[in-house]
Amino acid sequence: METEADVLEELLNIETEIEDVQDQIKLLLERQEKLHERQSELKFLLEAYKASGTGNSANENASRSSSLEDWSGSFEWDSQADDVRLNIFGIPSYRQNQKEIINAIMSGRDVLVIMAAGGGKSLCYQLPAILRDGVALVISPLLSLIQDQVMGLTALGIPAFMLTSTTSKENEKFIYKALEKGEGELKILYVTPEKISKSKRFMSKLEKCHNAGRLSLISIDEAHCCSQWGHDFRPDYKSLSILKTQFSNVPVVALTATATQKVQYDVMEMLRIPKCVKFVSTVNRPNLFYTVRSKSSVGKVVVDEIAEFIQESYSNSESGIVYCFSRKECEQVAAELRERGIAADYYHADMDVNAREKVHTWWSKNKLQVIVGTVAFGMGINKPDGGYYYIRTNLPVLSLCSDVYFCNSR
Ligand SMILES: Nc1ncnc2c1ncn2[C@@H]1O[C@H](COP(=O)(O)OP(=O)(O)OP(=O)(O)O)[C@@H](O)[C@H]1O
Ligand SMILES: [Mg+2]
Repeated sequence: METEADVLEELLNIETEIEDVQDQIKLLLERQEKLHERQSELKFLLEAYKASGTGNSANENASRSSSLEDWSGSFEWDSQADDVRLNIFGIPSYRQNQKEIINAIMSGRDVLVIMAAGGGKSLCYQLPAILRDGVALVISPLLSLIQDQVMGLTALGIPAFMLTSTTSKENEKFIYKALEKGEGELKILYVTPEKISKSKRFMSKLEKCHNAGRLSLISIDEAHCCSQWGHDFRPDYKSLSILKTQFSNVPVVALTATATQKVQYDVMEMLRIPKCVKFVSTVNRPNLFYTVRSKSSVGKVVVDEIAEFIQESYSNSESGIVYCFSRKECEQVAAELRERGIAADYYHADMDVNAREKVHTWWSKNKLQVIVGTVAFGMGINKPDGGYYYIRTNLPVLSLCSDVYFCNSR
């Protein structure tokens, strides 16, 4: 007959054993993660061997470019590049790696850029797009991001267009004519990856543009979307492998702020750029300040706190984004912020494209202070003026302790 002490003892033993098993599982998962990483590396090396066709020198070939070539030296386009940087983009000097990346692209090389969010990746392909003859194709994952970029470039007087579901018939005609016949002024064309994977018409025009020697470069923004290991995997990015296969002599530039080795190898493999020159910039962003505040359990009070935070910290109506988890929550929080005197509106994937574009434009022009959005808004959005703040009304890691998370950047 078991006594209470026996039961207690067995329970303790079982609990200890469960802890043991959990430790082992953790170790095994870590081991699995490492093996996956090595697997990606080896696959990539194999690709490089095949591409080089020379057995054992593939690894050397793959890394030689980045180590031996000096991309910071003098190049024939230096003064023209300086002129465009200063007089068109209004940027007084380059940041880390920008000049080198531009030089590598201008030399016709494929390039992989890993640079922190806000580090200045766009300039790295937009400047060569202006310097090189012809049209640069940019693939970008989100409509909001594309609109943001085209709006910014147009304001600088650069002939940039987008071919998306929101493009007018008139603009579409202009773009197709420019691709096919080289008529009209088109320097930078933005599309989503779906255009490459789903529009035969577009691909045929692009081919004509390339055959006439007018496809100047291909830029793949937010390139981590290629990788299943990245946090934003987009199946349509897989079809981008066709670009290097079809337009092998056109430089491909892949840009991302995500730096893990595994994602890098995946991107290089998927885009078929095993011999690309890789640039990794420091991910430290000294201009960012983070604050975490505890959140009230009462909904109304939470919005009061958010409104107070915005009004006190950004009394000059500087722009910002408030992130929410659900679409409904976005609408609710935006309405409640408006009630508290803050010019706010919501943005999520359920809205029709015109409504989304309107909100985004108003916000960009400072007619709206705050966008309350889901993650459908934000990646790569460029808004340099004013204070910038992100507020998460909820955050998975913090939701356990019901916190509000404020992240401010100045
Ligand atoms: N050399 C520079 N000097 C000053 N400002 C710069 C420089 N290069 C870029 N910028 C500015 O930095 C801001 C962020 O640039 P950009 O949008 O290209 O960042 P990003 O690296 O693409 O970020 P994300 O990962 O969020 O897309 C822009 O306002 C841009 O004009
Ligand atoms: Mg960007």
